[in-house]
Amino acid sequence: MKKINVAILCSGNGSNMQAIAKASIYSDLNIKIATVVTNTPEALAIQKAKELNIETKILPKGALARDQELDKILEQTGSELILLAGYLKKLPTSIIDKYKGRILNIHPSLLPKYGGHGMYGIYVHQAVKQAGEKETGATVHLVTGDYDKGPIVLQEKLSLNGEETPEEIAQKVIKIEHLLYINAIKKFLESYKA
Ligand code: GRF
Repeated sequence: MKKINVAILCSGNGSNMQAIAKASIYSDLNIKIATVVTNTPEALAIQKAKELNIETKILPKGALARDQELDKILEQTGSELILLAGYLKKLPTSIIDKYKGRILNIHPSLLPKYGGHGMYGIYVHQAVKQAGEKETGATVHLVTGDYDKGPIVLQEKLSLNGEETPEEIAQKVIKIEHLLYINAIKKFLESYKA
């Protein structure tokens, strides 16, 4: 089966990107990572992508220039699927519309809980801790114009004992994210063009 070209967008550490890229190179994830794109030149994700010989692109500053460049990169690389993996900028409506049903994101909570504006990184885990939740987890969902509100593709729960700090919760969650994202992409591919 022909592999579809995929663009991964990240702003930071890039551990999800790395896990997905490795699964596509060394394992049975049937996609080709055509490009890794960032808005943050110093993102560790860029280094990780280069180590895997993946083409990297850095977006310019300024919303208009950034959006136009992203559109161009996606066209030039023939990307059919966009994966957001710790990408901290909002995508423009034009791209969300153009790639409708073909943009995935991973969020470190059990959406719809602890999603939406301002809910990213450690803030998510602080809120989970403050609410005294007995469980948390991660969610892969389709991206729509509404922050963290698109249809859920896959979700995984983990238990909390109430003793964890927000940082410890973050460490537990990131551990389940990588495989969850890979499995969500596989699930997406099963119905894509089927
Ligand atoms: C993850 O926790 C993900 O859920 C969130 O951003 C973080 C990215 O981590 N959207 P990494 O850059 O993949 O290590």
